[in-house]
Amino acid sequence: MRTWTLRGTTTSYVVGVPDHGRWAELVAWGPHDGLAPVAVVGTEHFVPRADVEPMEYAVRGVRYTSPVDLVVSGSDGSDEFRPVFVEAREADGLELEFADVVRIVLHYRMVGDAVERWVSLRNDGPNEVVLHRHDSAGFVVPGGNTVKYLWGEWNSEFQQASVTLPRGRFTIGSAQGITGHSYSPYLVVDGDVAYGVQLAWSGSWEMSADVDTTGLVRIQAGRTSSSLGITLKPGETWVSPKAVGACSAEGTDGLARVFHEYERAASRKRIPKVLYNSWFATEFDIRAEHQLELARRAAGIGVETFVVDDGWFVGRSDDTGGLGDWEVDPAKFPGGLDAFIGQLKDLGLDFGLWVEPESVSPTSQLAKDHPEWILRTPGRDPILIRNQLLLDLSRDDVAEFIWSTLDRLLSTYDITYLKWDANRPRLDSGDQRRDLDGRVVANLYQILEKLRDRHPKVSVEGCAGGGARVDLAMASLVDTLWPSDNTAPLDRLRIQEGFRTGFAPHLMSSWVTDAEGTHDGRERSLDFRFHVAMAGVLGIGADLSRWTDDQLKTAARHIEQYKGFRELIASSLVYRLTTGVQYVGAPRSVVFLWETGDGNVRGTLPTRPRRVPLAGLDPAKNYRVGNETYPGSYLLQVGIPFEGPADSHCLVVEHLD
Ligand code: DGJ
Repeated sequence: MRTWTLRGTTTSYVVGVPDHGRWAELVAWGPHDGLAPVAVVGTEHFVPRADVEPMEYAVRGVRYTSPVDLVVSGSDGSDEFRPVFVEAREADGLELEFADVVRIVLHYRMVGDAVERWVSLRNDGPNEVVLHRHDSAGFVVPGGNTVKYLWGEWNSEFQQASVTLPRGRFTIGSAQGITGHSYSPYLVVDGDVAYGVQLAWSGSWEMSADVDTTGLVRIQAGRTSSSLGITLKPGETWVSPKAVGACSAEGTDGLARVFHEYERAASRKRIPKVLYNSWFATEFDIRAEHQLELARRAAGIGVETFVVDDGWFVGRSDDTGGLGDWEVDPAKFPGGLDAFIGQLKDLGLDFGLWVEPESVSPTSQLAKDHPEWILRTPGRDPILIRNQLLLDLSRDDVAEFIWSTLDRLLSTYDITYLKWDANRPRLDSGDQRRDLDGRVVANLYQILEKLRDRHPKVSVEGCAGGGARVDLAMASLVDTLWPSDNTAPLDRLRIQEGFRTGFAPHLMSSWVTDAEGTHDGRERSLDFRFHVAMAGVLGIGADLSRWTDDQLKTAARHIEQYKGFRELIASSLVYRLTTGVQYVGAPRSVVFLWETGDGNVRGTLPTRPRRVPLAGLDPAKNYRVGNETYPGSYLLQVGIPFEGPADSHCLVVEHLD
C-alpha cells in the first residue's frame, strides 16, 4: 500500500491506496504521538472486501452493502462503475486520481489541525452521466460512538444534543435550500480523542453517521441529491463543496478550538466595532428623527456604528411589501439618507444598512417588472413564506441585479456595514433538470466575494431569520454571523454555547437588548446581559430612549472595558469553564462567569463561594487576578471564587512570567 501523511499542527491524517488501486482508505487519524491504525484484520463474509474497509470515498460498483458516497448512472442504464487509481499529486495538499468513465479526484488540504476534503468529478466518456449521490467525503472516525449534533428552530438555534450509536445510522440535513435552523452541518464524535466534520455549504445538505460492522463510525457529508440528479455532459467537471474534518486530543472543547482556528485563518481579522442596531427598538417604525435620538444615546455610551435594519426602503412599513425595491423611503428619511449619514458622522458614528437581496415582495415594483425572475416551479404557484417570494438566483441576470443593487447602494452612500438577511427557505424546486441548489449557492458566494473585493471597507454580517445560514462557507465569506433573534440573557447564553462548539467568537454577533426569554424567562442583571454579548462581537439592540442614566452609565463602562480586550476575544483560544468561558491570549486571559441557576437565592444561610477552575494556563507560571497573584497550578485546580450577589463577572487574568 502507498501512503501519504497530511501533517497538521498536533494531529496527522494518513491515507493510503492499496496495491490493487481500487480505492483509497484511511490508515490513521489522530494526535501525532497517538496515531491509532484503523486497518481491518480478519475475513469478510458474504460481502465484498470494500464493504468492510475504512474507505475514503465509497463508490457504488466497488462497495455495495455499506453506505456509498457516489452513485453515477450512465446512458447504458447501469449505476455501477469501478474506477482505478491513476496517480497522486502532492502540490498544495494531496490529490488522488481514479479513473473510469468518470474521473474522480479526491482533494486534501491540511489547515492547522483541520483537513479539508472535496472531490471533483469529470465525465471522460462520450455520453451524459447523472450524479445521483455526490458526497464531498467520507470520514472514518477511529474511535467513539457518541455522536453530537446541533439542532434548533427560529429563536432557539444551536441546541446541543447527542445520540449513542452502537450500530445503525443517524442522519441530519436541510431540504430548505439554505443551511437551515433545524440542524447545523456539523457532526462530532466524542471519545478520548474528539473528531468532528463540518460541511461548507449554504444550500441543501445531508450528513450521516454510520457504524460499520467493525464498530467504527463513518461520517458522510455532502449536498442533497435532487430528484433527477446532476447531469454531467461529456468533458464537464463537477466540484463538491468542502467537508472539513477536525481532531483534538483535548476533547470536544479542544475540537471547537481547531474549528475556530480554521475559521480565523479564512477571516479578514478586523477589529470588531461596537454597533447599535435599531430593529428591536423600532422594528418597521423607522423615522429619521427617532433613529437620531437613538444614535445620540448610542454614541454617548461608546457605540461606533449605527445600523438601520429592515424598513428603510419604499413600500416597507411591515413585512408584506417593499422587498426588491431598494430605494430609500423619503417619508422615513425626509432629508435624504446622505444627510442622515452626515448627522451620524457628526456624532462620530459610522453607518450600516440591512438588506435582504435574495427576496422579493409580490406587491413590489420589481415583481411587476420582472415576473420571470421569481423562483417558481413550472405550472405551479410559488410558495409564499413571511409574505415574500425568492428571486431565482440561479439566473445570471438575477445575480447581476443583486450585485448592481448592492454596488449602487454602497457606492452612493457612505456605508461601512451591511447586514445581509434571508428570511425564508427555498422550497420551490424549479425545473429539476437544472442544478438549482448548486447554481443559487455559487452565485451567492460569487456576490459575497465580489463585495469583499470591490468594497473592502464594508463589513458584512450574515443573518438568515436569526441563525439559518451559519456554516463554514459563510464563515469564510462574511465578517460576523447572527446566531439567533433570541437575545434574552439565559436563552442567548445557551445558544452561544452551542454556536461556539463549531464557530469562533470573532464570528459571533451578539447584542444587548431588553428581550425577555422565550424558554428561560428568569431575569438577569444588565451586567449579565453585557457579559454575554461581550463574549462575542458586542452590539446594542435595546431601546436606549427608555434607558435610565444609570443604565447608560453601566453600558458605557462595559463598552469601554470591551474595547480594551475585543481583539483578544476575537483571536484567542476559548475554553469552556464549569459556569463560564475563558479566552486565553497573550499576555492576558479574559474570563466570564455566569450564574445560570436560581437567581433568587438570598444568601441568608452560611455557605461558601463556588469555585471555578480556570483552563489553558501553564501550571508552572504565575498569574494576577485583581490584586492577587496565584500560581497557574492553583488557578487550574482550585480556581477563582464566584462571589455573589452579582450574577455574572468579567475578570482579566494577567499572565506574569
Ligand atoms: C430577521 C433578522 O434575524 C432580524 O434581526 C431582523 O433583521 C428581521 N429579520 C428584519 O425583518
